[in-house]
Amino acid sequence: MSLLRLLAAFALLIIAAPAAADTVASASSPAGTLKIDISLNGEGRIGYSISRIRQPVIGESHLGFLLSDAPQLLRNFQLVAQQKRSVDDTWEQPWGEWRKVRDHYNEIALTFEEKSKLKRRMTIVFRVFDDGVGFRYELPAQPSLSRANIVEELTQFDIVEPGTAWWAPAFESNREEYLYNRTPIDGVGIAQTPFTMRTASGLHIAIHEAALVDYSGMNVARVQGGDFKAMLTPSSSGPKVVRDTPFETPWRVILITPDGPSLYAANQLILNLNEPNKLGDVSWVRPRKYVGIWWGMHLDTQSWALGPKHGATTAYAKKMIDFAAKNGFTGLLAEGWNKGWDDDWFATGNDFSFTQAYPDFDIRAVSAYGLKKGVHLIGHHETSGNIAHYEEQLGAALDLDRELGIDTVKTGYVSDAGGIQARGDDGKIHFEWHEGQVMARHHLHVVTEAAKRHVAINPHEPIKDTGLRRTYPNWVSREGQRGMEYSAWGVPKNPPEHEANLIFTRMLGGPMDYTPGVLSLTGRGNTPILSTLAKQLALYVVLYSPIQMAADLPENYDANPGPFQFIKDVAVDWDDTRMLAGKVGDLAVIVRKQRGRPDWFLGAVGDEQERRFDVPLSFLDPGRRYRAEIYRDGDTADYRTNPRAIVIERRTVTASDRMALRIAPGGGAAVRFVAVGK
Ligand code: NOJ
Ligand code: CA
Repeated sequence: MSLLRLLAAFALLIIAAPAAADTVASASSPAGTLKIDISLNGEGRIGYSISRIRQPVIGESHLGFLLSDAPQLLRNFQLVAQQKRSVDDTWEQPWGEWRKVRDHYNEIALTFEEKSKLKRRMTIVFRVFDDGVGFRYELPAQPSLSRANIVEELTQFDIVEPGTAWWAPAFESNREEYLYNRTPIDGVGIAQTPFTMRTASGLHIAIHEAALVDYSGMNVARVQGGDFKAMLTPSSSGPKVVRDTPFETPWRVILITPDGPSLYAANQLILNLNEPNKLGDVSWVRPRKYVGIWWGMHLDTQSWALGPKHGATTAYAKKMIDFAAKNGFTGLLAEGWNKGWDDDWFATGNDFSFTQAYPDFDIRAVSAYGLKKGVHLIGHHETSGNIAHYEEQLGAALDLDRELGIDTVKTGYVSDAGGIQARGDDGKIHFEWHEGQVMARHHLHVVTEAAKRHVAINPHEPIKDTGLRRTYPNWVSREGQRGMEYSAWGVPKNPPEHEANLIFTRMLGGPMDYTPGVLSLTGRGNTPILSTLAKQLALYVVLYSPIQMAADLPENYDANPGPFQFIKDVAVDWDDTRMLAGKVGDLAVIVRKQRGRPDWFLGAVGDEQERRFDVPLSFLDPGRRYRAEIYRDGDTADYRTNPRAIVIERRTVTASDRMALRIAPGGGAAVRFVAVGK
């Protein structure tokens, strides 16, 4: 090659290579732990990178949008304005894992404008906390972008270090209900969020989103190495999101903490990125424990449909109300109460009535009987994903709930991914995904309509939790991963490490209606559940939800009065929460202080191996003595061979003591600390 040709080739290479980026703005977290740099490269592409105590965590990652009817919003930007502010605020949750939440961050809002003729603008707001970063796009009203038809959000997350990832696959038929994969970070495919990583240096990183309102849910796809990109949930209308300007996207959240316990605590950040309560006085939202006409259907000993096995009959519901009242539960879920379950109920969802009960279920008599005993019926609206049909009846259904004192409704969207039936603007039925923009709108519609009638909502097969309970505190819980029902069906059953995975992934988003407490330890056809007895109790503490079900059949509780006592005693609403020890997928030890009382509860779960922990009890009030009521795995307990071995013992402890316990393979531990005096 001649020298000239060599020089020419070199020049070409320089032109083709990505242009180096200049930092145009920076912000640090309040204690200086995290720092974000925002850059523009030679192509005018906006990037951000994040470091933690000077260690690079997120490498230069670009931001932008692909639109269906206009050039992409990606290149040719210049910075035209920037604003900084700092916030240090503490607010109170009406119910939750913590009574008080501190919202402490530094914010930088950068407005970029295209240098090209279109001169479109967008502002990107970054909030830098000490344990994570949230950022979102704000698209102002502007002549050259009055409506954004978003085909894809071009948000990248470049994870610098190698490490291990815990992730559930996205866009699969069973929606959010997959076991977690544990792979190297560079082995991830397309992941749902929250999606959690532990890097080689021990950093814990989770990617999620906050305030998913009128937008489509975000998944993340690995491009190569540790480079990830946002992948929005599709819509039948073509673009994944259609919004008129001005609007803002949900927050993109990256939690970055030194260990498992601090990652769990960082889930407060997601609440902080949501708007304050819009409902005013929500004292009508009541955290509670409930029982149900439910597990029997999953065991196939009862049915939703009419017939000899029909579960929701007047007589059986009254029996269940008696059981609930006797044991201090204030809710009874009655599935199969309404018309529509008789044929292939999940096929179309067209047969469901949300106001008409089956003839053998006198809903007025049952609800009145319950209210007399302090037990509210919990409503059930299984839609089979047919939201067009459901929305037609929604107002009347919720009116009926209000009239009958049904103050919580479990909704359900059983259908394959992409099987939601929604009515489009053209009046026709369109098939949608569970986490698309249509469903973001639908869920908020249900929640706000329910709020008008003082009804709380608990969706199954839901849209993911992005902290909207702060804004709408009647959105009390949801499913959104594999719950206990999988241990009834066995397809396969939830393995022993499932909950130790959930706590550091799904649970970062918010409460889960997991429905624990199956003391029979058996599913359908007497097949074993992969858990010890003590672990069933621990789940009430480690898997947070302000409404917790005692899922088993009453006869199984009557047969296990010792362990059942813990389920009766355990609180569901908390002043404070701390994880004392935690390793993703292996172990979590969580303590929570009962709201408005000096008592604490401890829950610990392990995985398929024996685990041990030894923790200080310094969380207890140092001025008091406590009676520790301990429910631990027996010394020979093992989920495979001896799952029922449990030791229930009492000990007096103070804040200066420690507690060391063994968790059996597949096991757990639960402790109630009752303040007994000074
Ligand atoms: C799936 C839900 O998770 C389960 O709890 C419910 O019983 C069925 N759908 C029927 O609605
Ligand atoms: Ca493990």
